[in-house]
Amino acid sequence: MLQVNGITKKFRGIVALDGVDFSLEKGEVHALLGENGAGKSTLINLIAGTFPWTEGSCTIGGQAVASLTPQTAREFGIAAVFQEFSLVPDLTVLENIFLGREQSTGPFLRRGEMRRAAEELLDELGFSVPLDEKVAFLSRAQKQMVEIAKALRSRPRVLILDEPTASLTDGEAEKLFSAMALLKARDVGIIYVSHRMSEIRNLSDRVTVLRGGRKIGTVVTADVSDDGLIEMMVGRPVEQLFPKIHHAPGPVRLEVAGLTTRDGSVIDASLVARAGEVVGLAGLVGCGRSELCRAIFGLETIESGEIRRGDRRVEKPTPADMLADNVCYFPADRGAEGLALIRSARENATMSSLGLPSLSTGPFLRFWRESDIIRKPLESLALRPMAPERKVSAFSGGNQQKVMLARGLMKPFEVYLFDEPTVGIDVGAKVDVYNLIKSLVEGGACVIVSTSELPELINLASRIYVMHEGRIVAELGESEHSEAQILSHYFGGQA
Ligand SMILES: Nc1ncnc2c1ncn2[C@@H]1O[C@H](COP(=O)(O)OP(=O)(O)OP(=O)(O)O)[C@@H](O)[C@H]1O
Ligand SMILES: [Mg+2]
Repeated sequence: MLQVNGITKKFRGIVALDGVDFSLEKGEVHALLGENGAGKSTLINLIAGTFPWTEGSCTIGGQAVASLTPQTAREFGIAAVFQEFSLVPDLTVLENIFLGREQSTGPFLRRGEMRRAAEELLDELGFSVPLDEKVAFLSRAQKQMVEIAKALRSRPRVLILDEPTASLTDGEAEKLFSAMALLKARDVGIIYVSHRMSEIRNLSDRVTVLRGGRKIGTVVTADVSDDGLIEMMVGRPVEQLFPKIHHAPGPVRLEVAGLTTRDGSVIDASLVARAGEVVGLAGLVGCGRSELCRAIFGLETIESGEIRRGDRRVEKPTPADMLADNVCYFPADRGAEGLALIRSARENATMSSLGLPSLSTGPFLRFWRESDIIRKPLESLALRPMAPERKVSAFSGGNQQKVMLARGLMKPFEVYLFDEPTVGIDVGAKVDVYNLIKSLVEGGACVIVSTSELPELINLASRIYVMHEGRIVAELGESEHSEAQILSHYFGGQA
């Protein structure tokens, strides 16, 4: 139903995609796999008409198409859910779903009809989102659901999903997968981008692997192993994903006792974290892990309980105090909380350290020092391309994550809180992040990692706390954290 041949995209001379062939059949899930910056988002943006291609040709349903705009792509039945959301925060869910395609009789909007159609659509997907809430007040997962509903509203023939599960809970992701199965049965072709091998394996019929803007190959998913796909992706076999971390637990750097947040997302949580160790926070997405990190950093209202740093009790934490007190936090939602997308990578990286003596003289920023100082952190994370002056929005998703991580490297902190540090980043970049964590811990820092990736917990953490419905339900020492043991606590059971 869709075919592109020799498609090339240059951004002011930078080749993002280089002579790629790609085809999509009816009722097929075709996955796109590749490292950060490989060109996945660029390819689907071309197919969705976001921007024109530089060279190449395209046929849709056998018909040659000279160029595509968002409008014509929509007319061909192509709908896309992008990595960065396109919702209008000040409009309601209902208004967003019908944005630009409002149904009206003369000058009057047919609100009742639109509401019924939206309810039906969300029902079909099994998503629950309040239709009259402003999008600004929704969680990231809910926004993702609205994006998906919006894409499906026009009953597309081709659906493009760019890392749609990056912020969904497991239950929500399951709903999306059943919706995909339903669409597949109706002959909709789906292009699916994900860094999660298990999803590629379970959902896709074929996989196309991109590397450095070039197509490496298209294979039938059932015919290739995970290792085979990774090798196609990075160009060499990846033997060692996780570095061996040497833990040397020292003095307690952070203590949380009986912490409860006002919204009840965290209930009576207690933990200790020491210098020289990685403490893992495990649990399903939505179990309160993220909120616990946020509460420690002063981003959630605390109802009761306390946070201690050394022998000092932190009364009402605020991000500014915590930063000044050498606690650094990396949020899971880099777009909404972590980064100023229209500013340069340099500015984003130095944002929380502008008060450093090396960067400022009294109230004056020493710009020339700034460019100097960020080079090393960005290099150690292997930012690609190494262009600190470029706007963050012009980097691929995974490289945006690296810009955010670079912030924590601007000066030594005592405590690092990582929430889902490897969401949306490729295997190669994951290794960079794991090595970063290793060097922090072995340098004597206290690191807390909240993640939904079990292998990360098992390989990185010395102790693991498991959360379920806001509470800490288990603490596992180094010898007891096998995958099965962690999982046995995921649903609140006492093993
Ligand atoms: N607007 C832009 N201006 C300049 N360069 C861009 C722009 N958008 C993307 N690029 C470059 O094109 C290349 C491909 O980026 P793309 O976003 O397609 O990667 P991706 O495969 O989706 O990566 P990720 O897994 O990180 O999302 C990257 O090198 C990126 O820096
Ligand atoms: Mg992308």
